[in-house]
Amino acid sequence: MEPYRVVRYGKGAATFYLQDCVAGLGEIKEKSVDVVVTSPPYNIGVGYSSYRDTLPREKYLEWMQQVAAAVKGALADDGSFFLNIGNRPKDQWIAWDVALVLRRQFALQNVIHWVKSIAISKADAGNYPSITGDVAVGHFKPVVSNRFLNDCHEYIFHFTKAGDAKMDKLAVGIPYQDKSNIGRWKTAKQDRRDRGNTWFIPYKTIQNKKDRPHPATFPVKLPEMCIRLHGSAKLVADPFTGIGSTALAAKNLGTSFVGFEIDRGYLDEAIARVS
Ligand SMILES: C[S@@+](CC[C@H](N)C(=O)[O-])C[C@H]1O[C@@H](n2cnc3c(N)ncnc32)[C@H](O)[C@@H]1O
Repeated sequence: MEPYRVVRYGKGAATFYLQDCVAGLGEIKEKSVDVVVTSPPYNIGVGYSSYRDTLPREKYLEWMQQVAAAVKGALADDGSFFLNIGNRPKDQWIAWDVALVLRRQFALQNVIHWVKSIAISKADAGNYPSITGDVAVGHFKPVVSNRFLNDCHEYIFHFTKAGDAKMDKLAVGIPYQDKSNIGRWKTAKQDRRDRGNTWFIPYKTIQNKKDRPHPATFPVKLPEMCIRLHGSAKLVADPFTGIGSTALAAKNLGTSFVGFEIDRGYLDEAIARVS
């Protein structure tokens, strides 16, 4: 299997393959990947350049099963597989249907909620010095419906082979609000605590559509946090590379990357971003 392009940086490299991920993952060295961070097509009719996002549900789930098997073969025994997936208002089962298919191959170690926007009223927040009024952060996409709430979150399912992979929780930790906790508890040795499984990661505001040349990306911070949470990683993979957000995260963290994408235009954009 010939890479489409290899981009070198520091001590690492990003290797990009213009090919189907199931076939491609089957060809890389078994158990060589420490962390997979990916977001597959959700089968909701997104207008990708090459891929048709409208399979019958059964076929889609069969395909997800094949992807999971291919990921499992490439993943180290103590590796992490972070799968980002969301729903759409009229179909709230997509993410959980996919999770149930993956359950046949993996343990579900954590369920992380990727919060894209949130409203907090001052009255509920209570006495936080930094919250001085009602807050609404992130983009609220208007939903023209009297049935469905604005969808402000997606899932990041954290799958592992046995459910017991050790995580570096403090690598994505946050400072204690009450500093007197430091030292009071045996585990609180530094000003950093577990941030929990709700991660607020907004999209950057863009002025122009061409600033996001792909219809379904995640912010680079999302894979960065997943890789940090996993802890030390030599090789990160994204079977559905898109325009390379996971590749960029791996580069930012000095880790090597391997990715697959069937669309040449998206892959060229990924290569340009990482270069
Ligand atoms: C949700 S997008 C991923 C976007 C990526 N996370 C980013 O931030 O740029 C899914 C991508 O999977 C690609 N794709 C679809 N089928 C594929 C396959 N069989 N193998 C590899 N990539 C595929 C699509 O072209 C699309 O770019």
